[in-house]
Amino acid sequence: MPDPTLDTTAPAKIILFGEHAVVYGEPAIAVPVASLQASAAIQPSEDGFKIIAHDLDAAIVRYDPQLIKEPLQRTLTLLQQHTGQSLPDVEIHLRSTIPMASGLGSGAAISTALARAVSAAMESPLSNETLNGIIFEVEKIHHGTPSGIDNTVIVYEQPIYYVRNQPIERLKIEQHFKLIIGDTGKKALTHVAVGDVRKLMEAQPEQTQQRISAIGEIATAARVAIEHGHIADLGQLMHENHRLLKELTVSSSDLNRFVEAALEAGAIGAKMSGGGRGGNMIALVDERHSQAVMQALRDAGAVNLIETIVC
Ligand code: PMV
Repeated sequence: MPDPTLDTTAPAKIILFGEHAVVYGEPAIAVPVASLQASAAIQPSEDGFKIIAHDLDAAIVRYDPQLIKEPLQRTLTLLQQHTGQSLPDVEIHLRSTIPMASGLGSGAAISTALARAVSAAMESPLSNETLNGIIFEVEKIHHGTPSGIDNTVIVYEQPIYYVRNQPIERLKIEQHFKLIIGDTGKKALTHVAVGDVRKLMEAQPEQTQQRISAIGEIATAARVAIEHGHIADLGQLMHENHRLLKELTVSSSDLNRFVEAALEAGAIGAKMSGGGRGGNMIALVDERHSQAVMQALRDAGAVNLIETIVC
């Protein structure tokens, strides 16, 4: 039995550049948001394996392999298949401070914390590579055809430059910078937005491909700016990336309003983040404008604001 005082954790994540285009093989940049975490604590159990989901009214979840579309169950099934062991007699206390269904990777983080706890209790800890493969499979329940960026940044807990099916590249942050994440409060299904971009690709292949490629070039340029500490250059890149996402129809009136409000209040740059149509946007700010941007986003209707330093 591992030390029960040691919780396993996994952070939230946010995509900075390249969402949607990443599905088509273009690069994207994502970073962990360490101020938001999912965690799992292990305790001995007298009545077999169970999960206590504290954020769902302490609901007790028992293993049921029939529930293949349920992410926690799927995680447990894959874990047993991988280790060749059955579930240990422990209770796992799951907690999360990550808002759900808003593009912050709450599902992937909870599954990651759970898989780390159960594999530790099995005395069969997983490498990040193996865990990443398991969480990618679980992500298919939410996303249909995920690019893999969410699980990768969450499992590795590092800023990444990500290209589908390529080795993971850690992004060097030459100079730290501050983001404000503004939540529209509108839940949106990523797989619907991803499906709509696919329909656009079928209906207008040339124009859509051009936009996707342009987003890829922006992500590449953003990598150079971040690795050289040229934070001011990110503003224009965010602006262009947001415009292209709008053209791909995945933004929303709320997201556009928040982006405008943040820029008017002095943000260096702002754009929607993740699947879109709702969920979150990000604003890049310097200390001098941080409070004004927060206030502007609140006035524009943000239901939740998170500050995070990318470092
Ligand atoms: O909605 P989120 O933050 O989970 O992001 C999805 C990112 C997409 O590029 C739209 C889809 C994907 O699988 O990469």
